[in-house]
Amino acid sequence: MLHDLQILEDPGSSPGQALDAPKVAAEETPGARRVYLETYGCQMNVSDSEIVAAVLREGGFGLTRDPEAADVVLLNTCAIRDNAEQKVRHRLDFFRARKRKRDEDLKIGVLGCMAERLRHKLLEEEHLVDIVVGPDAYRDLPRLLHETDDTGQAAVNVQLSREETYADIAPVRYDTNGVAAFVSIMRGCDNMCAFCVVPFTRGRERSRPATSILAECAQLVDQGYKEITVLGQNVNSYRHTHDGASVDFAELLYRISLLSPGLRIRYSTSHPKDCSDALLHVHRERPNVCNYIHLPVQHGNTDVLQRMRRTYTRDEYLALVDRARSICPGISLSTDIIAGFCGETEDEHRDTLSLLARVRYDHAFMFMYSERPETYAARKYTDDVPLAVKKRRLSEIIALQTRISLENNQQEIGRIHTVLVEGPSRRSDAQLCGRTDSNKMTVFDRQDFEKGQYVRVRITGCTSATLLGEAVV
Ligand code: SAH
Ligand code: SF4
Ligand code: F3S
Repeated sequence: MLHDLQILEDPGSSPGQALDAPKVAAEETPGARRVYLETYGCQMNVSDSEIVAAVLREGGFGLTRDPEAADVVLLNTCAIRDNAEQKVRHRLDFFRARKRKRDEDLKIGVLGCMAERLRHKLLEEEHLVDIVVGPDAYRDLPRLLHETDDTGQAAVNVQLSREETYADIAPVRYDTNGVAAFVSIMRGCDNMCAFCVVPFTRGRERSRPATSILAECAQLVDQGYKEITVLGQNVNSYRHTHDGASVDFAELLYRISLLSPGLRIRYSTSHPKDCSDALLHVHRERPNVCNYIHLPVQHGNTDVLQRMRRTYTRDEYLALVDRARSICPGISLSTDIIAGFCGETEDEHRDTLSLLARVRYDHAFMFMYSERPETYAARKYTDDVPLAVKKRRLSEIIALQTRISLENNQQEIGRIHTVLVEGPSRRSDAQLCGRTDSNKMTVFDRQDFEKGQYVRVRITGCTSATLLGEAVV
């Protein structure tokens, strides 16, 4: 999940969410040595694995979806919460056992956020892996693989960069439905929220040149893609300056939206402090910029927000929500919530519940606080909310939000939405699924419609997570 992180997530989920099952590089490509690549964590990791696939291909390596056929197993990992790391550790144990028992030539590598965080442990204390490569060092992968072959020693590159954006590397889209694609526009994060490991695992914030982003998007349009989600840990602080001319996120989104009227644009994920009026006006003025924002609040109490170092108060956040709704009527909002942060009192917890009730998000990703070593919270505060209390608070949050999501979806019944068809529904080939402009998954009878088509669908029913409907002809 990419959103905890997340074992790979479905598109539309936030970068902190775990997927239920890891994503596996799905393309079979020939090559002298074959690599099995499994991805955990957020959409950024999924997007990075497409870069990794491109680098490996260029370096003469093949890809396989069958781990048994692989000479090299690479896990692209997530460190956002402890349970994300535990999943990867179990997977490493599994491959280690294979190597020990019957496949001593197998090479095992850890990429991504855990590589950055646990380099010493993985290599020195636990002798778990043959290569360790951080998120800014993927160009070095072929060399590192050859090095470990030659020396029999572990090979490592966890250097973080202030410049690397992989702007010139064309990602290998190995697991695509041909309709929706991710495009990475910035890397790293400078926000230093007290609970978060990302600034440590992904380094300083840097933006990719606008020209290279626009070229990649234009190419996707030519290839028939209909939806692009631009990605970064904090996309709305995007800014790239070239020859004295500066492009910010609102301007970038505007330019992407001009590429084709048939292209929908989303982004993930954004920080409330950088959600400008100019950006809200792009949502309003450009019909193909989706009427949806993932706007993680994390908590409903100002003191907790301050301890989290989120830089806004409850009232400032609520004012932003009101502004978004007045500039973009009907805009759909989703959020991320952390339950049981250090020092959280019962009253503070109730403020999160009241904020959910006030904003009435369409969707939320909800997590129990998990202390991450090295973060400000780990160094300065005590993780003092007992596990049972965290669990109870999280379940109250989930129960309330599920009810609100259901009620919001019930309001949709009778309305007509334009759905971009992504493919057959999970349950039945006789049905198709796709998202509304507001990012709600919608299922309807297939008839003669196909993947990649925009279909007008009248909503006839719902669950808290899905709309059901029928095509309007
Ligand atoms: N850059 C994104 C978030 C990336 S992580 C943003 O700021 O919106 C995705 C989500 O994981 C966060 O929004 C937060 O809700 C959650 N998260 C991050 N660190 C966490 C921790 N230590 N424990 C629990 N949840 C955490
Ligand atoms: Fe983490 Fe905060 Fe950066 Fe999001 S904005 S990645 S939560 S430090
Ligand atoms: Fe996980 Fe790293 Fe993404 S910690 S959520 S894979 S940025």
